[in-house]
Amino acid sequence: MTIALVYGGRSTEHEVSISSAKAMHQALKQAGFSVLLIAITLEGRWYVQHGEVSKHISTDKSIHAVPGLGLFVDDVKLPIDAVFATTHGYGGEDGNLQGLCMLCKLPLCGCDTVSSALGMHKHLASSLFANEHIPTVPTLLVTKEVLQQGSFDQIYAQARSSFGSDLFVKPENSGSSVGVSALKNCEIAAFGRAVELAGCYSERVLVQPLIHPLMEVETAVLRTQDNDLLVAGPGLVVDPGKEHVGFLSYEHKYGQIDTAHLRIPSGLDAETEETIREYARKAFLAIKGDGYARVDFFVCGTRIYLNEINTSPGMTETSHYPALMAGIGYDLSQVCRHLVADALK
Ligand code: DAL
Ligand code: MG
Repeated sequence: MTIALVYGGRSTEHEVSISSAKAMHQALKQAGFSVLLIAITLEGRWYVQHGEVSKHISTDKSIHAVPGLGLFVDDVKLPIDAVFATTHGYGGEDGNLQGLCMLCKLPLCGCDTVSSALGMHKHLASSLFANEHIPTVPTLLVTKEVLQQGSFDQIYAQARSSFGSDLFVKPENSGSSVGVSALKNCEIAAFGRAVELAGCYSERVLVQPLIHPLMEVETAVLRTQDNDLLVAGPGLVVDPGKEHVGFLSYEHKYGQIDTAHLRIPSGLDAETEETIREYARKAFLAIKGDGYARVDFFVCGTRIYLNEINTSPGMTETSHYPALMAGIGYDLSQVCRHLVADALK
């Protein structure tokens, strides 16, 4: 059976995606699948690759998609039984790539168009979580219109009166902490710069209270081939360095400063851990999830907040989804077998 492993893509997480693909390539082979590598360049073009996953994308075999038929190089159809995409963020995790696979009749591991789009649009997902009584961080939305006008006085005043002086600003639909700012004693000028920065990565921006002291905990969800919904974790993200101010930066996540790591078990009491797992399960079902996802939480004292659901979680060697699944005895090759079986149902 041949699995097309799709990676790269146009988002700010292009490089993370390549690292995820390296780990998934080994895991898929270990699970006994043949793997066809498909790399997407930063410009969005798709190419067949040979050998190992690499940052260097060879551009000699260009792919075109034919809706209803599949993926082709020239007029030769690529033999693909299912697609596994490690693409993150814009274009790759937001329902677009998933829609293309559906149009090309290619079974896809993991979340489909709708669940991917909902997972990526944090504010839309929050309202579904609220319906399920899952607590989320209170949020003000900076709309596309306000971003275009570039005047943030009103939203700043609202944020200060609702949340106080320590604020967190982030793009609505981006990942790996790109474009986020944690602002202590936030003044209007710094607030405006943070909103503009986040607006470079997303059409809408979220403003939240900066929660501290903050514990970040994460869970991994997997739908098994027997249709059980497993939730692994929670694991506690361990503060990796002094620069760490209330959130994990891109550098903390991917190693340029100091690699964040996960403590499993989290050290939270059993009841809190069970509540978190239950919220993760409900959140996955609320967005109509398929296959797998990582669901992230904040814990502050006795309060639990669901932060976000990641429908294409990082799968790099230092990523938390594989670590959480290993904690319940599933290595990545077993995860692959379940996801492929689920995709082919
Ligand atoms: N967006 C990154 C890859 C993650 O959530 O793991
Ligand atoms: Mg994320």
